[in-house]
Amino acid sequence: MINGQKILITRQYPAAGMDLLKKEPFQLTFWEKERPMTPAELAAQAEDHDALLCTLTDRIDKPFLDRCSHLEIISQFAVGFDNIDIPEATRKNIPVGFTPDAMSEATADIAFGLMIAVARKFFFLHKTILTGEWGYFNPTGHLGYELKGRTLGIFGLGRIGVKMAERCHAAYDMPVIYHNRSRNPAAEKQLGARFVSFDRLLEQSDILSVHCALTPETRHIFNARAFRKMKPSAVFINTARGPIHHEPDLIAALHQKQIWGAGLDVTDPEPMAPDNPLLSMENVCVLPHTGSGTMEARDRMSVLAAENIIMFYKTGQVPHIINPEVLSG
Ligand code: DGY
Repeated sequence: MINGQKILITRQYPAAGMDLLKKEPFQLTFWEKERPMTPAELAAQAEDHDALLCTLTDRIDKPFLDRCSHLEIISQFAVGFDNIDIPEATRKNIPVGFTPDAMSEATADIAFGLMIAVARKFFFLHKTILTGEWGYFNPTGHLGYELKGRTLGIFGLGRIGVKMAERCHAAYDMPVIYHNRSRNPAAEKQLGARFVSFDRLLEQSDILSVHCALTPETRHIFNARAFRKMKPSAVFINTARGPIHHEPDLIAALHQKQIWGAGLDVTDPEPMAPDNPLLSMENVCVLPHTGSGTMEARDRMSVLAAENIIMFYKTGQVPHIINPEVLSG
C-alpha cells in the first residue's frame, strides 16, 4: 500500500515515468543539480528514504548497502546493473528492479551504426573536413570496406544481440555466429545463427559485436590474447560495458594492425579523456555511451523504473526484478 513512502530519485529522468510516481501518494525527492550525486551525497540522502530510483553510475556497493540496509526497494533505470552489488542487496532482502528490453532497438541501432561508421571511417573523414584536409577526390585515399556477406560474431546473443543480428542479416546477408553462456535456439532458428566456442568466435568473425553483461567472467575478456586471435580485417564493436575490453590491449592491437578497427559506445573509464589515442585513429569511432539515447527508449525505461516501485508497494511484486528470490521467500 502506498502511504507516503519517501522515494529518492537520483537524476532528472524522463517525465513519462516520473509523472506516474507523482500521481501516487509518495513523497518524492528529486536530485535537481546538473551533476550526479557523489557517493557521499547519495548515501546521506538515501539514509532518510524508503526507496531509491538510481542509474548506472550511482555506486550501490557494500558500504552503501551497509549504511542503507533499510531501503525497501532499489529501482535501476538501466538494463545493466554492474554498479549494484546484487548479492549484498539480496542478503539484505532488498529487491532490485531494472528496465530490460526498453532499449534493445535503440542500442542495436548504435551497434549497427558504429559497424558502418568504422567500416567507412565516418568519424575520421568528418574530421578531415573540420581540419581543412578534405583535399581532392583521391581514388586510393582512406578506403573502407563493404559489409555484404561478412561474418557477424555476437558475444552475448540476448535481446540486444538478436536485434543487431537481425539488422546485419537483413541488410547485408551476414552469416551469424555467436557465443553465449547458454544456447539461443530461437535465434538459431530465426537467423540460422551458429553457436561456436569463444576462440572460434574470435577467429571467424569479420565483425565482432559485444552484447553481454559485465561480470567477473566477462571483465577484460577482450584482451591481448583475444585480439591476437582475431582476423586482421576484423572490426570490434562494444556497446555493452567498457571494462569488457581491456583498453590498452585494444589500443595496442589497433596500432599493431592485429584487428582492422573498433566502434565503441562504452569506454573505461567513462567519460573517456579527450586526448585518448583511440580518438585520433582512422579506423576507430567512439560515442559517449548513448546506446539507449532515444526519446522512445528513455521514456520506456522511465516508465518501467517507476512501475517497479509502484507495483512493489501496491502488490508486493516487482514486474522486472533482478533478484526475485528476495520476494519468493
Ligand atoms: C543500460 O541500460 O544498461 C545502458 O547502458 C544505459 O541505458
